[in-house]
Amino acid sequence: TSPHAKPNPIRVLVTGAAGQIAYSLVFMIASGQMFGPYQPVVLHLLDIPKMQEVLNGVVMELNDGAFPLLAGTVATTDVKTAFMGIQVCLMVGAFPRGPGMQRSDLLKMNANIFKEQGAALAKYAARGVKVLVVGNPANTNAYIACLAAKADLPSTNFSALTRLDQNRAVSMIAERVGVPVAKVKNVSIWGNHSLTQVPDVTNAVIQDFPEKGLTTPVLTAVNDNKWLEESFIPQVQNRGAAVIAARKLSSAASAANAIVGHMRDWVLGTKDGETVSMAVVSDGSYNIPKGLVFSFPVQCRAGEWSIVQGLKITPFIQLKLDATTKELQSEIDALPK
Ligand code: NAD
Ligand code: LMR
Repeated sequence: TSPHAKPNPIRVLVTGAAGQIAYSLVFMIASGQMFGPYQPVVLHLLDIPKMQEVLNGVVMELNDGAFPLLAGTVATTDVKTAFMGIQVCLMVGAFPRGPGMQRSDLLKMNANIFKEQGAALAKYAARGVKVLVVGNPANTNAYIACLAAKADLPSTNFSALTRLDQNRAVSMIAERVGVPVAKVKNVSIWGNHSLTQVPDVTNAVIQDFPEKGLTTPVLTAVNDNKWLEESFIPQVQNRGAAVIAARKLSSAASAANAIVGHMRDWVLGTKDGETVSMAVVSDGSYNIPKGLVFSFPVQCRAGEWSIVQGLKITPFIQLKLDATTKELQSEIDALPK
């Protein structure tokens, strides 16, 4: 078939569609950045009733974009209408943290949203629905949604966003080494999307001459363990808070860009030899307890992700993996029963 043949549209739900992240995200999706330039989409947009008017405004602007790939919009405050038949679910709707708050402060505020919407996924979504949780605390909210849908949907359908952390880390390494960001490959984020996340460059490389397969390990190119341990890691961990302090609002356009990258790679596949980070339900790899929603380096093929096996874990990184695991377990223990 011709690459220009128009397949059936993909139904994509964005929750929190009247919010700040959505205000970048929905236009990126409508313009083809998530599923490629030939794939039409129907956008389902959900927010809460008091945001109905704002939501109408977003739909007006989507119409005004005259996007050739936008085959329709379903803007609603009704959960059943929003989740009916969706194939991709971007769970952005939740309360963001403000200055001085930790993501864990949102635990109880947002838990019910993900319980209700996990049940709606089970009832109304396509069985192969790909779910990405963005609302914080993202890993634990994904755990809640997955649990609520457990009888009906496989846990492999669920993920949470750590791609923004990966992008932040890649950008910092590129700047430090003095190379374009596109040359920095296989930086990993392990664990929770929180202060305990583990940005890890042990297996990362700078692609010097990709056509010849020539690479330099990031550890060699940086050649400064003190900077990596005492500056790079804490800066990546604290970047969300730094943006909140500067903007008085949490990251939005960069979050939307990360959401696009996460879902694009999951649906269309990662490049050969390249890894990306996704928080997914642990299968016990790297001794991470089964069932935790934990960020791992993954590769994607034919719409399925798989955790990259056999990567070297240094004793320094192992201690940090233990700490982020413990934090994720304590978030689950703190959930309302
Ligand atoms: P925002 O407040 O601008 O928008 C959130 C929207 O969600 C609001 O319009 C709100 O009405 C809506 N909402 C609340 N409850 C809802 C429900 N039950 N159903 C549907 N919609 C609902 O916030 P934002 O800046 O867009 O951020 C959204 C979330 O994403 C926050 O939790 C934030 O912390 C998180 N976030 C995560 C990452 C990440 O990397 N994982 C990055 C940035 C932000
Ligand atoms: C981020 O990393 O920017 C988001 O998770 C928002 C936040 O609360 O830090």
